[in-house]
Amino acid sequence: MKENIILIGFMGVGKTSLGKLLASKLGRAFIDLDEKIERDANMTIPEIFEKHGEKYFRKLEKEAVKEVSQRRNIVIATGGGTVKDEENLQLLKNSGVVICLTTDAEEIFRRTEKRGERPVLDSGGNERLETIKKLLAEREKFYNQADFQIDTTDWSPLQIVNEICDKIRG
Ligand code: S3P
Repeated sequence: MKENIILIGFMGVGKTSLGKLLASKLGRAFIDLDEKIERDANMTIPEIFEKHGEKYFRKLEKEAVKEVSQRRNIVIATGGGTVKDEENLQLLKNSGVVICLTTDAEEIFRRTEKRGERPVLDSGGNERLETIKKLLAEREKFYNQADFQIDTTDWSPLQIVNEICDKIRG
């Protein structure tokens, strides 16, 4: 198979950790988009948001998508907001099979409780669960464009990775 495997979905669904596991199972290279952006900018994502704002972060994200979608046979973990840009979504879809990992808002809330790591959620103040629900609703139409959706709530990482392998084999 020559296509990339691209993991999309909301913050906290496990794109990075499952992407790493999937890549090692398949013997493919792995790229985490957020890590690439941080490496290229030599700043953490919270620093980029704080110093330059979200618009600048999205510009760096778009450049990173253009670059990684040129690669072949890799596993890519995106950021939770990457696919709300239609052009990013199309580039990623054209480069391989897009899998959306999901879980419910309460579970996302539990998994993303730590402050200082996700500026998009921190900016919602104390109404974090409400912010999550609002963003999930706004982004649903983009996440729904994935080739497959996998609910990660009750499964172990290994089960999820096996499920992804089954799906991509058809
Ligand atoms: C974002 C999600 C983050 C990161 C940035 C913005 C978002 O990635 O790209 O903080 O808008 O949902 P993760 O989904 O890996 O946390």
